[in-house]
Amino acid sequence: MFRSSHMQWMVVHQASKKKSRDHSVKLKNESSWWSGVEMGPPDAILGVTEAFKRDTNPKKINLGVGAYRDDNGKPFVLPSVRKAEELIVSQKLDKEYLPISGNAEFCNEAIKLALGDNNPVLADGLNVTVQGISGTGALRIGSAFLSKFFPGPKNVWLPSPTWGNHVPIFKHVNMDVQHYRYYDPKTYGFDFAGALEDISKIPEGSLIMLHACAHNPTGVDPKPEQWDEMSKVIKDKKLLPFFDMAYQGFASGDIAKDAYAVRKFLEDGHRICLSQSFSKNMGLYGERAGAFSIICQDKDEAARVMSQVKILIRPLYSNPPLHGSRIVATILTNPELR
Ligand SMILES: Cc1ncc(COP(=O)(O)O)c(C=O)c1O
Repeated sequence: MFRSSHMQWMVVHQASKKKSRDHSVKLKNESSWWSGVEMGPPDAILGVTEAFKRDTNPKKINLGVGAYRDDNGKPFVLPSVRKAEELIVSQKLDKEYLPISGNAEFCNEAIKLALGDNNPVLADGLNVTVQGISGTGALRIGSAFLSKFFPGPKNVWLPSPTWGNHVPIFKHVNMDVQHYRYYDPKTYGFDFAGALEDISKIPEGSLIMLHACAHNPTGVDPKPEQWDEMSKVIKDKKLLPFFDMAYQGFASGDIAKDAYAVRKFLEDGHRICLSQSFSKNMGLYGERAGAFSIICQDKDEAARVMSQVKILIRPLYSNPPLHGSRIVATILTNPELR
């Protein structure tokens, strides 16, 4: 079986090699495949890191990417992460592929961290939670799912301003991007009245993105009572809230306080989408540990949604990376490290 399909592949491969050889001869006389590709602008945030590396000034400081640094400005790895890694290595675990949906223990622990251990949503099995390539990848899975299955208008309402990557993430899946007022430059604070007014004008049944805490780039968050009010307006307008939680624990230093909005919206009966990142709160930037969740109406719906999320992930990257998810799961299940 293997041999015959391999032989077929060889025949096709040889034929296509000959074809491309003929073509490359022709190309040399004309132009390159990519002569029409224009230089694109560097990424606004990651471009700062590139400029930082090029800069020879000894007093330089990189304010582009938010990442832990020690007193000498060098990268800092949390002691809990180092210990978790020692525990993982000492177990001599295998390196098999994870399932499409990722490391089940990691997914379980991630959603418990967001919703709280005893959230009835979890007891009732209403969450679809998959591992993503960190927060960005989680948002990407979410946007792909919404672009295909969201029954409302194919656009998303983002706060103004928002994390720079939100816009291209949704544009890549052909969703339009709109903004609601969020930051008030006059008070350097949250424009509560402006946000409520704009949200109350969003067409019914639309998708709204909310930063769960430590809003990026402003660092300005609604107060609990303002979240309560926003939850009501968003419910009245039958909007689907998509929470981006990239900094749980960073805004107040308290995991539960930073999850206030997410937990309150669920209590108020919203069905939400949620992206999580462990880049910042565990300093796992390069490990790419994140999760995407959808809270469904019942178990049957959750099973159907999970099947479709897996179908979307498979051609994107098949299955997510192992190591970072093991670090997160080890820390969250070990009371001392946690
Ligand atoms: C609001 C927000 N969402 C998501 C992310 C995603 O980060 P990562 O892909 O490193 O998890 C970031 C990172 O800066 C962010 O600020």
